[in-house]
Amino acid sequence: MVVAGARPNFVKAKPVLDALAATGLRTTFVHTGQHYDEAMSGVFFADLDLRAPDHHLAAGSGSHAVQTAAVMTAFESLLDRLAPDVVVVFGDVNSTLACALVAAKAGVRSAHVEAGLRSGDRSMPEEINRIVTDQLCDDLFATSPEAVEHLLRGGATPHQVHLVGNVMVDTLLARQADAFARPVLAELGLRPGGYGLLTLHRPANVDDPATLTDLLAALGEIAARCPLVFPAHPRTAARLAGRLPAGIRLLGPVGYLDSIALQAGARLVLTDSGGIQEETTVLGVPCLTLRDSTERPLTVTEGTNRVVGRERAAVVAAAFEALDHPPFPRRPALWDGRASQRIAAILARALAVTTARPAATAQPPGASAGSPVIR
Ligand code: UD1
Repeated sequence: MVVAGARPNFVKAKPVLDALAATGLRTTFVHTGQHYDEAMSGVFFADLDLRAPDHHLAAGSGSHAVQTAAVMTAFESLLDRLAPDVVVVFGDVNSTLACALVAAKAGVRSAHVEAGLRSGDRSMPEEINRIVTDQLCDDLFATSPEAVEHLLRGGATPHQVHLVGNVMVDTLLARQADAFARPVLAELGLRPGGYGLLTLHRPANVDDPATLTDLLAALGEIAARCPLVFPAHPRTAARLAGRLPAGIRLLGPVGYLDSIALQAGARLVLTDSGGIQEETTVLGVPCLTLRDSTERPLTVTEGTNRVVGRERAAVVAAAFEALDHPPFPRRPALWDGRASQRIAAILARALAVTTARPAATAQPPGASAGSPVIR
């Protein structure tokens, strides 16, 4: 059972669903409904050629507790009904934590794709989701050696942890030709290398008026030198009305292919997104992360990312430095487009072993007797 709920999950679920199917395992695809708009969900299914979900939980928006509880309540009855051999969750959104918790308490084996990332900043809801999900899941698939270290230090046993690479990169490499063929730059009157791309949606950046004001002042200074386009998440758009400096052009949320096309054509990307730090590294585009920390340090040590905080002078100085002296493109090991195949091979082997065991012998949590099937 493969579970996705929000934008970044869809990008990660696609190659894993395909790779699991290629091993001959049966899959059920669950959409929790955390994201539900056409722009936040529907367009991703079209852009990624992602199959329609077999089950939609319609959890919707709400406070963290309300949203997490809505996913848990709906997911529990589905899990009881379908009794899958393994539940696969992705990333660090509320749906990830909710479904991992339900699976763990039901004694169903669970696998976390993108395990072990840590920002060290517990004020981020995603950090809490990562820590708890990693404690709950049986199989932990990591993108980087640091992530493996975090998992082992957190008490995971070596046989639970697998360094497999990055499934977002699988999708990026598979779809980049389609992305580059999109007419989005021409439609917006943009020239490759002639603009910067901005995305902001973290509560720490957009919910606090003082932080947002400081950031907007910095972004205005940068836009005076390099015009910025800003596809805004609904959370952000609501807070920006009438406050944008000249030189920053607000767009609605963009789909996956247009997002990749806009990143690839940009001279500079400014973001607080986790996924975009990784995508710019693979595309070789300079990226400035408008946060105090990153859970993806590999994009700094082996990529094009710099973590620059939110303070006006520091952000502007870093942007001018990146415009004048762009970093040299590099790509981390195992970010090669085959992470999903590694994950599918490991899960197929694990299920073949656990499901072949006689029912009377001790089984790890979640193992069930029967055929090696992911439902
Ligand atoms: C969530 C994830 C975040 C991820 C982001 C990607 C958590 C804690 N956060 O943040 O890690 O980077 O998704 O986009 O899970 N909304 C809509 N339409 C939608 C969905 C949401 O308008 O389809 C609006 C609603 O007003 C909602 C708000 O966006 O209240 C926030 O949505 P939510 O899913 O709670 O968190 P994100 O900020 O999207």
